[in-house]
Amino acid sequence: MFENLKPQPADKILALMQMFREDPREQKIDLGVGVYKNAEGVTPVMRAVKAAEKQLWEAETTKAYTGLAGDPAYGDAMINLILGSSVARDTIAAVATPGGTGAVRQAFELIKMANPGARVFVSDPTWPNHLSILKYVGIETVTYRYFDRETRGVNFDGMMEDLKGAQKGDVVLLHGCCHNPTGANLNLTQWQEVVDLLNAQGLIPMIDIAYQGFGDGLEEDAAGVRLVASSCPETLIAASCSKNFGIYRERTGLLMAVANDASGQALNQKTLAFLNRQNYSFPPDHGARLVTMILNDDALRADWAAELEEVRLGMLGLRQSLADELQRLTGSDRFGFIAQHRGMFSLLGTTPELVEKMRVDAGIYMVGDSRLNIAGLNAQTVPILAKAIVDAGV
Ligand code: LMR
Repeated sequence: MFENLKPQPADKILALMQMFREDPREQKIDLGVGVYKNAEGVTPVMRAVKAAEKQLWEAETTKAYTGLAGDPAYGDAMINLILGSSVARDTIAAVATPGGTGAVRQAFELIKMANPGARVFVSDPTWPNHLSILKYVGIETVTYRYFDRETRGVNFDGMMEDLKGAQKGDVVLLHGCCHNPTGANLNLTQWQEVVDLLNAQGLIPMIDIAYQGFGDGLEEDAAGVRLVASSCPETLIAASCSKNFGIYRERTGLLMAVANDASGQALNQKTLAFLNRQNYSFPPDHGARLVTMILNDDALRADWAAELEEVRLGMLGLRQSLADELQRLTGSDRFGFIAQHRGMFSLLGTTPELVEKMRVDAGIYMVGDSRLNIAGLNAQTVPILAKAIVDAGV
């Protein structure tokens, strides 16, 4: 049997992680995988997470199974964080999932169950694993224009034109904030135009939100998803706690299905629980429990939000210094977009050849599509990266 297996394509982000580990150079800089690192290059356990873990260790009396949807209190806390009061609670079905990827995978499976003919429209570019999972699940994918390679902003006219080609029942995958990999995001006026188009054409929005709090702030980053969920009859939302709680390895995510009214909610809830049971039965609980404790305790929540805000402002500062340094070296504003982008990433918009040249010549690791993780930088490495960008002739 095993002889029939064919090698599967390597995930380019994870392959880069491995290459970085194997590079013996001391000066190497890791701007690859989307993991936050502080100025010392460490991915810290957030203060509130440590405190919650301590409390949990003392108070937890059992490790028996939770429910198939996870602890309902986790669903409630996350729904509140992401949607606030924008949508009636009794229309929302929610299940805990193993990370944001688990939520994305379950959402695609739900789409396939509900409408096997639906196509999923994805931004060009998008997170490569979206495409890989869609292919694996067997869903037809259509790309819509998104990144403007001239301005390095959103090609909004192109996006809208391409979405007009979607048919009733097709799904449109949107990034809730901090677009991965580009860093270029819709403004609220554009979100509203997208909502109008979705509703006019009977399209179903699916939102992947993995970086809430890394862009313009916790509330601001949720504005698009709130607008969509409160204006469209049905919405799927895949959320991750990996980045904003810094609990990557705990695999903590949530899938929500927002129905038109309360009558659709019960069936959605049962379907999501069924999908959990088929794929992995009970979702992991440790990370979800920490998130619930933090969100439901005023002091822990305030400390978490403050630390997240420090992280966000730190990344904004790094964006500005990189843009300033490139301005100084080139005498032009053509890298000003780095300061305008939001989230963990910016897409430089250069060729794989120049990305490879920077890796070989200067030990700079960014994803081949020229996505760089801003959090991989610090005050010392900003000038090194800026020089490497200029030396490579980007
Ligand atoms: C990324 O885009 O680098 C992260 O979401 C990590 C991953 O799983 O790819």
